[in-house]
Amino acid sequence: MAVTGSVWSPSSWRSFPALHQPEWPSEERAEAARARLASVPPLVFAGEARNLRAALAEVAAGRAFLLQAGDCAESFHDVSAIHIREKLKILLQMAAVLTYGATLPVTKVGRIAGQFAKARTSPSEEVGGEEIPSFRGHMIHDDAPTAPARIPDPERMVQAYYHATSTLNLVRAFTKGGFADLTRVHEWTQEFVASSPEGRRYEQLAAEIERALRFMAACGIDVVSEPKLHQVDVWTSHEGLVLDYEEALTRRDSTTGDWYCCSGHMLWIGERTRDPHGAHVEFFSGVHNPLGVKLGPTATPDEALELCERLNPERIPGRLTLVARMGAEQVFELLPPLLRSVREAEHPVVWACDPMHANVFKTESGVKTRRFDAIMDEIEGFFAACRLERVWPGGVHIEFTGEDVTECLGGSEAVLEEQLSSRYMSLCDPRLNARQSLDLAFRVAELMRHPGRAADAVDA
Ligand code: PEP
Ligand code: CO
Repeated sequence: MAVTGSVWSPSSWRSFPALHQPEWPSEERAEAARARLASVPPLVFAGEARNLRAALAEVAAGRAFLLQAGDCAESFHDVSAIHIREKLKILLQMAAVLTYGATLPVTKVGRIAGQFAKARTSPSEEVGGEEIPSFRGHMIHDDAPTAPARIPDPERMVQAYYHATSTLNLVRAFTKGGFADLTRVHEWTQEFVASSPEGRRYEQLAAEIERALRFMAACGIDVVSEPKLHQVDVWTSHEGLVLDYEEALTRRDSTTGDWYCCSGHMLWIGERTRDPHGAHVEFFSGVHNPLGVKLGPTATPDEALELCERLNPERIPGRLTLVARMGAEQVFELLPPLLRSVREAEHPVVWACDPMHANVFKTESGVKTRRFDAIMDEIEGFFAACRLERVWPGGVHIEFTGEDVTECLGGSEAVLEEQLSSRYMSLCDPRLNARQSLDLAFRVAELMRHPGRAADAVDA
């Protein structure tokens, strides 16, 4: 086994222990898929990854906020204009609420155009009395609940690339071609949201934004030709789980000579693969994209520091985002020691809160869900912990969908337990629907305006 510190290359991870990798049934076909991916054009460019890093450096410095959101697992079947547009609408609405509410720039990062692979706690699941391999994402196999459908197929890595390409193409078109224009802020509301309390609150905010634009125009500011009002940057991100895929899409930047993983702008390392001596940390230590690392309840201050040292030894602001997912009940106890040790070591990280992944439970009838209230409690605990440790609460990492699903319980128009199965469409974890996402954005904006309230809530 290679030792940490030996020379990095896009394939050096292969001599480290790599968890959660698919076992491709045919090495020959896997090699063919890798070779194919090694020859396709990159999905993103190094200069874009550097621009995102610069935007995240602003977050690390406490001058901006990160909104990272999207599906738990993207589906090959949902690569359609409607699905992509509906997801973007929510992201744009949430960003508008946060930007206007907190009067801070919001860096928008989708869990999109590549979120096709999942690390699972349990390798198998029971369906109709039969034990079959757990669903691990469309990059690996089909979701149908049968054993043959769950056999890994390396050709799916190539399909994932093409699905990511067409998704990103549309994201670029929507965000640069007029759809994300601030003058269209009203049009991002979906029908099923419009009549809800969040929808009405959003309408009010949209009207205020419109008024502010008219006010600026009346003051003589050229709002027509200011590009920032008509285009936005929505960056892509996914968990960099399947290293065959990530390695094959890694390219050397011709300007700097540095390596970039060109499957997405930002890649993160999941809770189950963040071993500082494992293959994932080895691979991502050598590419220059902005990175995220999930930190769950077992993460120690020393581990957090080791990850900072391994992934950002040069302490480049914006390079590393630590995404805490501790659980509503534990965040205020477990997070402060981590915040403190990273702050004291002067590592310029972004701290973000994933309030989703440690708040999952199964209902009595066996449906996997999350409570909206627990999600909000974790965010409040995160803000309170950051305040206690004088660390900037840099952002949130959310799982949502643009559809009117019933996967998470609660919210202002409460989804009840008996309604969960009516529109439960997630391939993996339960996601917030559009109303719940908007509700969350309003509450986070409020927390950013009055961070003290979070501390009060936790103290109480
Ligand atoms: C995820 O982000 O979908 C995920 C599985 O998260 P984690 O690695 O934090 O469990
Ligand atoms: Co998930």
